[in-house]
Amino acid sequence: MPIHADIVVLPGDGIGTEIVAATLPVLETVARRHGHTFAFHEHDIGGIAIDRHGVPLPAATLQAAQKADAVLLGAVGGPKWSDPNAKVRPEQGLLAIRKGLGLFANLRPVRPHPAALGASPIKSELLEGVDIVVVRELTGGIYFGDKTRSDSDATDLCRYTVAEVERVVRSAAQLARQRRGHLTSVDKANVLETSRLWRDVTNRVMREEFPDVTLEHQLVDSMAMHLLSKPRAYDVIVTENMFGDILTDEASMLAGSLGLLASASLGTGKVGIYEPIHGSAPDIAGKGIANPYATILSAAMLLRHSLGLEAEAAAVEAAVSAALDAKVFTADLAAPGKAVTTTQAAQTVIERLA
Ligand SMILES: NC(=O)c1ccc[n+]([C@@H]2O[C@H](COP(=O)([O-])OP(=O)(O)OC[C@H]3O[C@@H](n4cnc5c(N)ncnc54)[C@H](O)[C@@H]3O)[C@@H](O)[C@H]2O)c1
Repeated sequence: MPIHADIVVLPGDGIGTEIVAATLPVLETVARRHGHTFAFHEHDIGGIAIDRHGVPLPAATLQAAQKADAVLLGAVGGPKWSDPNAKVRPEQGLLAIRKGLGLFANLRPVRPHPAALGASPIKSELLEGVDIVVVRELTGGIYFGDKTRSDSDATDLCRYTVAEVERVVRSAAQLARQRRGHLTSVDKANVLETSRLWRDVTNRVMREEFPDVTLEHQLVDSMAMHLLSKPRAYDVIVTENMFGDILTDEASMLAGSLGLLASASLGTGKVGIYEPIHGSAPDIAGKGIANPYATILSAAMLLRHSLGLEAEAAAVEAAVSAALDAKVFTADLAAPGKAVTTTQAAQTVIERLA
């Protein structure tokens, strides 16, 4: 059935503006083909917002996001705003909007495409058939705990509540149930009290609510090793904030390029933030050569998770896959002299959709 959706668009900084501009026509094509109407509302976040409004997340941006069906984000940051002593930094805008929307689960699918296997530093035979989603807890743990600093020491408090663990484990288990029915929970329960709480809560939630999903526990250090040595063994991986931050960057190497990896940040409501996992890539910004596929795949996740348009999401993913099959690669993946531009890559996806 045709729907109307209000989508807040936050291009941000650097290549953010280029990859988002390339992705909107893909969503417009989906809307036209299926009779949907998507209204795009563009707002500032990150460095551009600091320049224009003095803050990385203007109130108008947060209010628009709170009223929207979904948020599509490019990337924030860049050398202009990277003074470590600066009071306002672009990345604060990301933390604030996730918090403001109550988003606590960050989903990062890792599915190396056959045509791009050669771009990964990992042996191709280990990568064939890999299909993982990492679910990272997004609003708790050491990144959000109290911090102290004196001349002689510093502390970062790591804290998790039972409710914080329950909700992210439920999100991951529901996802595992829709996929291959296997959940790996990653912690450091041999050392950390927060990890022992994480493990106890996970065991209880899974026993009481998801007896049909197979649960396995992994210590984060051995997980870091197994992710590279036997990535096919994993389906859904759930973990706390800092472990997830590190493991997802490691997992991105399986796919060959940061420019291929999408993400969704979800809460209990339908609104989510959809963005590529990479940053604003200042080294290539303004050249029109950034890979738009991660952002287009993030838009597919937006269609699926916030708008409930599964068939349309699958069609976008298939169109990106067809473009990769045809070796329509931007410079991060292409052989010398064979690269297409950001716009050409997105245009190929639109042609494959049609
Ligand atoms: N979510 C975000 O907005 C986010 C995430 C990470 C970093 N950042 C910020 O981005 C800025 C740059 O950080 P960085 O250089 O460490 O990481 P980055 O992800 O921006 O870039 C790392 C490398 O990957 C390349 N790359 C990234 N995306 C690409 C794409 N779509 N196509 C082709 N190549 C691509 C870049 O050219 C660069 O060589 C920093 O200010 C950082 O704080 C923002």
